[in-house]
Amino acid sequence: MSELDDLSTLVRAATPLLVIETIDEQRVIECFRHVIAQALHPLWRWTLTNGLERLDFNAPSNPEVASDATSTLNAIRAEQERSIYLLFDFQPLLQYAVTLRQMRDIVQRQRSAAHTLVLVGAKVELPQELESLATRVPLALPDIKELAGIMRGEAAAWQRENNRKLEVDNEAARIIVRNLVGLSAPDARRIVRKLIYNDGALNANDLPELMKAKFELLNRSGLLHYEYATASFADVAGVSQVREWVQRRRAVFLDPSPNPALDPPKGVLLLGVQGCGKSLVSKAIAGGFGVPLIRMDFGSLYDKYQGETEKNLREALASCETLAPCVLWIDEIEKGLASGGEDGGVSRRVLGYLLTWMAERKAKVFVVATANAVHELPAELLRKGRFDEIFFVDLPKPEVRAAIFAMHLKRRKLDTNEFDLNALVQASEGFSGAEIEQSIVSALYDASGNGGALDQATLLHALQTTKPLSVLMREQVDALRAWAQSRCVPAD
Ligand SMILES: Nc1ncnc2c1ncn2[C@@H]1O[C@H](COP(=O)(O)OP(=O)(O)OP(=O)(O)O)[C@@H](O)[C@H]1O
Ligand SMILES: [Mg+2]
Repeated sequence: MSELDDLSTLVRAATPLLVIETIDEQRVIECFRHVIAQALHPLWRWTLTNGLERLDFNAPSNPEVASDATSTLNAIRAEQERSIYLLFDFQPLLQYAVTLRQMRDIVQRQRSAAHTLVLVGAKVELPQELESLATRVPLALPDIKELAGIMRGEAAAWQRENNRKLEVDNEAARIIVRNLVGLSAPDARRIVRKLIYNDGALNANDLPELMKAKFELLNRSGLLHYEYATASFADVAGVSQVREWVQRRRAVFLDPSPNPALDPPKGVLLLGVQGCGKSLVSKAIAGGFGVPLIRMDFGSLYDKYQGETEKNLREALASCETLAPCVLWIDEIEKGLASGGEDGGVSRRVLGYLLTWMAERKAKVFVVATANAVHELPAELLRKGRFDEIFFVDLPKPEVRAAIFAMHLKRRKLDTNEFDLNALVQASEGFSGAEIEQSIVSALYDASGNGGALDQATLLHALQTTKPLSVLMREQVDALRAWAQSRCVPAD
């Protein structure tokens, strides 16, 4: 393991102060046990509850050492033999001037042996005086082999406890292990244990639960939302081109070792008239690929985290990569990319970061972005090669409107044979799918207000009294359609 080599080198070089940010204390101890196996320095651990304890094998029976910070640091300074001290829980104590001074004396080797102090904690923030003396060491996360070992360990524990064999689907178990990559050992162990104890089995049924648990661990910025309800293309009328496009790429997208001649699909931009199903299509794309759908709240990237916008975007995108394969859905991308310079260039940098990430990322994260307003979109987003394709989701054609009527009537347990679909299609010229659905809903209210079931006349009346957006905002809709004609691929 290269992290062990790194630690060994640092210890051999007698680095005075190391900082390791992790919650996985056991892993830190194991790493240092390996290190001292070569270097043969005494290894100590300090905790608030037990004070100093010696961890190496040739330790004398535990010597008595006080647990408070001052006497601990005094003891460390007085120790003649060069040693390694793992200090857990120590960070809060550094706010005291005496403690800080004692630490600095040891670290700067003022009448002290060349010890190595290691501060360990979930988050270790140091006063400036110490930070400049510290070396931060990232603790690598467990690899596939180690994760498989964790799973075997948990399975064995369950079998011992329950006195029967755990039912394991090998293919699913492999997928589960692969999906634990990116998590710390304790997190991975907790998740695997939950999957096993849920039902005494490890199989494909565990995959959704796994993705959800993993997502919750990774979404620290709160920018991402796990969309439980993906859709199927059967739920969307009239997007045949998008459906075929996804179907053609599905195998390559999911193949763990795809043909290098084929570029893996990166993402699509869905432009279109409001209410014509862009959000629905995004969900259907995730359903079509059969992977989880992660929505990024791009609009709130700015209001929530003044000054931390870019860092949060970076973290959120990194989390998505750990969740791969998945679909990253950026709904209404224009809201997060206000053009113009009124935000000090932040949104320019955000866009730049997003585009670079899209071009360079290796993980299977398929981006689906949607937008209503093209003139608000920066030109670089629309340039060829950013997205694999830009689809235009237009107002539904007559036959698509018929399908939308049928779909939404059926969904409400109404018999389509009792309606004259042709007449409904004619009466809904210029309607979006959302407006058709809305008319059915309001007609149902009218009908129940009149004490009866919904009939053709009531539905026609609801359609005739609705002014669709394409009429109310004719210029904008026409301009959008004209713009799209030469630049986009029709979704249908
Ligand atoms: N082509 C369609 N087939 C079936 N239902 C549709 C279709 N288009 C719209 N609908 C219905 O209208 C609802 C709203 O559509 P959706 O939110 O996907 O539109 P949108 O293009 O994302 O709109 P907006 O621009 O307002 O975000 C859908 O949940 C669905 O019930
Ligand atoms: Mg939408």
